[in-house]
Amino acid sequence: MTAQRIYDTVADDFSRVNDLIIKRLSSDVPLVEKIAQYIIESGGKRLRPLLVLLSSRALGYDRDDHLKLAAVIEFLHTATLLHDDVVDTSDMRRGRSTANARWGNAPSVLVGDFLYARAFEMMVELQDLRIMDVLSHATAVIAEGEVMQLMNVKNPDLDEAQYMQVIHNKTAMLFEAASHTGALLAGADKDREDALKDYGKHLGLAFQLVDDVLDYRGDAEAMGKNVGDDLAEGKTTLPLIYAMVEGSDDEKQLIRQAIRKGGLDDLPRILQIVNRSGALEYTMAKAREQAALAAACLKALPESDHKEALGLLTEIAVARVS
Ligand code: IPE
Ligand code: IPE
Ligand code: MG
Ligand code: MG
Repeated sequence: MTAQRIYDTVADDFSRVNDLIIKRLSSDVPLVEKIAQYIIESGGKRLRPLLVLLSSRALGYDRDDHLKLAAVIEFLHTATLLHDDVVDTSDMRRGRSTANARWGNAPSVLVGDFLYARAFEMMVELQDLRIMDVLSHATAVIAEGEVMQLMNVKNPDLDEAQYMQVIHNKTAMLFEAASHTGALLAGADKDREDALKDYGKHLGLAFQLVDDVLDYRGDAEAMGKNVGDDLAEGKTTLPLIYAMVEGSDDEKQLIRQAIRKGGLDDLPRILQIVNRSGALEYTMAKAREQAALAAACLKALPESDHKEALGLLTEIAVARVS
């Protein structure tokens, strides 16, 4: 339905960002270029660049630096994915084998580093210290989020507040940085800057909550990644946290053991408990709450097609299947 309409709003910018992304992947070291191209060209929704384009345009930005900013943010995102798939030992991403499954962990980590570094080179070209401040801080916070999550692998005692902190850091922070820097680039006044910053944060939280639902309910083909990965990795996400609170003592014990053990042996039984407990509905309700908060932030913006597209994005975020 409306997803295409959102992209159409900035169709020309969008294809220019894609060209720029490909151009700036170049490296004289063949394996660097090969792996970077492999993951970048396998697609992805390009949501974060979309946020940059829409946010800056919604505030009337009419020059070209938003294209570079959008590419920078997609490079940062892609670097986190290369590292995340190593840490999570994932073997499928964007409908293909992960880079780590194909080339091994070492090249994935190093090419992730290359993408971070290239992003920072391009960021400096923007010559805007406030944008550098936001993006370098966001990069540190994402890494902290991933480490916090790692420290809690196989920990069934992670509670909802701690979970929200993890997803804020690992995911919402980059969404927030995307819409925030889009606003900064456009020279937003303080109210609009804050509104777009908060918009990104809430949208990012909604997005990760839905992602964690899809891990139990999604369709692997549509998502381009495996169902059940979170349980396999021993990740305590909100669907499990809620099912443990609501379930019987036996069910609680079963979930606790499955988290401690990791792996997929218990997936069918856990799926049953999760489904029956209403945990997915609960998590979706939380996601909708965040999406509504994101939509409310948009009141601070002047009317435009770009603002409308940002509004639609909050609806799509909670209706997505991939
Ligand atoms: C994947 O993000 C990582 C999460 C925050 C869940 P996306 O779902 O935006 O990944 P791509 O870029 O579209 O592949
Ligand atoms: C992704 O977290 C967040 C980052 C890449 C920083 P997940 O590990 O939950 O995302 P998927 O499921 O691998 O896409
Ligand atoms: Mg992962
Ligand atoms: Mg996930």
